[in-house]
Amino acid sequence: MRRFLILFVILLIDRSIDAQQPIDPPVPCAKDQDCSELSKNQKNPTCKGGFCACLDDQQQLRNCSSLQRASQQEKAIVSQIYHRCKLDVDCNANNSFCNISRSQCDCKKGYVPSTKKEQCLEVARGLSFPCTEDKQCLAVQANTTCQNMQCVCINGYHVVDNVCYRNASYNGICARSEECNHINNAYCTDKKICECAKDTKIDNTLTNCIPLAQTIGDYCTSDAHCKKIEDSICVDSKCQCAEGEGKHFAKEITKCIYNRANGEPCEHDYDCYQPRSDTNSTDDYVNPLQCLGSICSCQDDYRTDNEKGICMRAGSPMVVPVLMILSSIVCGGLYLQ
Ligand SMILES: *[C@@H]1O[C@H](CO)[C@@H](O)[C@H](O)[C@H]1NC(C)=O
Ligand SMILES: *[C@@H]1O[C@H](CO)[C@@H](O)[C@H](O)[C@H]1NC(C)=O
Ligand SMILES: *[C@@H]1O[C@H](CO)[C@@H](O)[C@H](O)[C@H]1NC(C)=O
Ligand SMILES: *[C@@H]1O[C@H](CO)[C@@H](O)[C@H](O)[C@H]1NC(C)=O
Ligand SMILES: *[C@@H]1O[C@H](CO)[C@@H](O)[C@H](O)[C@H]1NC(C)=O
Ligand SMILES: *[C@@H]1O[C@H](CO)[C@@H](O)[C@H](O)[C@H]1NC(C)=O
Repeated sequence: MRRFLILFVILLIDRSIDAQQPIDPPVPCAKDQDCSELSKNQKNPTCKGGFCACLDDQQQLRNCSSLQRASQQEKAIVSQIYHRCKLDVDCNANNSFCNISRSQCDCKKGYVPSTKKEQCLEVARGLSFPCTEDKQCLAVQANTTCQNMQCVCINGYHVVDNVCYRNASYNGICARSEECNHINNAYCTDKKICECAKDTKIDNTLTNCIPLAQTIGDYCTSDAHCKKIEDSICVDSKCQCAEGEGKHFAKEITKCIYNRANGEPCEHDYDCYQPRSDTNSTDDYVNPLQCLGSICSCQDDYRTDNEKGICMRAGSPMVVPVLMILSSIVCGGLYLQ
């Protein structure tokens, strides 16, 4: 009975000590930033030896008072995490526990205290993880933030294999190819610059390295994409021979060369070319010229139009013969009358 009474007294004393002890535990921290919450009432907090340290009135460095902070706000809420405890049940916040060696509530492994130290938030298990605060995302990966309740890369960063990398600009400095990865087909060169892969060139948006055109008609966004085809330029997103310069594409030598018109000297069939625009043609245009005896002349199915000197399809209805036929009918009719 006496032993029980002593135990009871001890328990009572223990409880009363606990109750009387100021609920003013030090606030643990990893870096100065963790203590910034304390800066309103307390001067220049820094992280010293794992706890937030503040200057007191005598300019002495002391552990910052979480009580002081508590009085600023609602005590009950603020003291959820880091408040004094003996057992886990003393810690009310979800996923908190009593760290007995410190007699302080703390968040379980895999959880971080919310900024207001009210609750323990789950550490993100990767990008896209649901979150309410940045620190959940930052606990697993740098350069992340909580946006629309999801962990994402911060602005100016992009994801490669679940990791956020800085968007290096085209021709800009890079540390690794992942930083150039947001530009299609780009990589980080030995000189640590984002450039397009071999045989590709950057497009106008600076976000795509597109393959160099191999032949006339291939896609392009600038003349540079057409550089493999001599004298070609980018017109209507297609590599074309500069028609204004009177050139055409010679498939046989994959080059743009000057047109040789009907009657002009030539060496090869491909030298001779009658521009498409001369003959209101359809898309499947056939060049009607050939090199015959070193002179460009009309192919078999064509004949030379005497007025313009160009080749016209022999069998096709043409303006002149139709007019001639028409007039002969009309005149003939008149004549008959
Ligand atoms: C701050 O608190 C910790 C833990 O209670 C203690 O070890 C440390 O000596 C304290 N520091 C100061 C400057 O009071
Ligand atoms: C704590 O967890 C319970 C059960 O999961 C949940 O119903 C409650 O809303 C949580 N409380 C807070 C403050 O998150
Ligand atoms: C309790 O706190 C101490 C001192 O900060 C720390 O070293 C220890 O890891 C904590 N215990 C647990 C289970 O987190
Ligand atoms: C992004 O993360 C890297 C790696 O941790 C770090 O070196 C860099 O400073 C961070 N950049 C920014 C803008 O936070
Ligand atoms: C960074 O790259 C990503 C992926 O292409 C893009 O969505 C984002 O807009 C870029 N951000 C900036 C600031 O350039
Ligand atoms: C092509 O068509 C236009 C009108 O459609 C006409 O004015 C022009 O004479 C035609 N050119 C040739 C070579 O037939």
